[in-house]
Amino acid sequence: MTWRATVLTIFPEMFPGPLGASLAGKALSENKWALDVLDIRDFAKDKHRSVDDTPAGGGAGMVMRADIAASAIDTAREGAAPETPTLYLSPRGKPLTQDRVRELARGPGAILLCGRFEGIDERVIEARNIEEVSIGDYVLSGGELAALVLIDACVRLLPGVAGNEGSLAEESFAEGLLEYPHYTRPRDFEGLSIPEVLLSGDHKAIAKWRREQVETLTKSRRADLWEKFKRR
Ligand code: ADE
Repeated sequence: MTWRATVLTIFPEMFPGPLGASLAGKALSENKWALDVLDIRDFAKDKHRSVDDTPAGGGAGMVMRADIAASAIDTAREGAAPETPTLYLSPRGKPLTQDRVRELARGPGAILLCGRFEGIDERVIEARNIEEVSIGDYVLSGGELAALVLIDACVRLLPGVAGNEGSLAEESFAEGLLEYPHYTRPRDFEGLSIPEVLLSGDHKAIAKWRREQVETLTKSRRADLWEKFKRR
């Protein structure tokens, strides 16, 4: 079964966007994953194709209507494999992690609801059992870029997509830590040299140096990750 991303958006032209290039794009054209994009406006009930309305209780902005979002989700679910999770991209969501990305990549795919406006009627989140996911503590103008990020992170883990499976095992977050630094030619770059140990040919010493780098870097840049790693 092919891993399938089903995106619900009022900007279908944003897809595949950058996912049509590079690794993900090649894999998409080779049918190693699939992308369905549904225009939420197709589920609108009026001739203006409006999907939002003013917030109950007043205030700024507009809110996506529950009934229209629900119709779009129900249609997406009909076309997706059973057990496909529905995710709503929102800065209020649970932060996306590499562990969650791995789980999603192992599954049948994801239905991704992209918000715009102030948000979406809370009742649809409850009624359709939707998981709210954030890609970081900053606010985008909509969920589309977040959906692209999530899909990219999943697709590169699919079998046969990344090509060099070895590099996945060593990369950042493979075990919840940051990756060691990399070097290549030239040997001298603007007076900066490559750490001597990497030129020594001593594989044991190189592995030890890289491990030390992983730990030092994680401790200094991401104390939160280091604490989590120690507690495992
Ligand atoms: N939509 C707007 N901001 C977002 C964020 N940080 N993560 C996910 N979806 C979003």
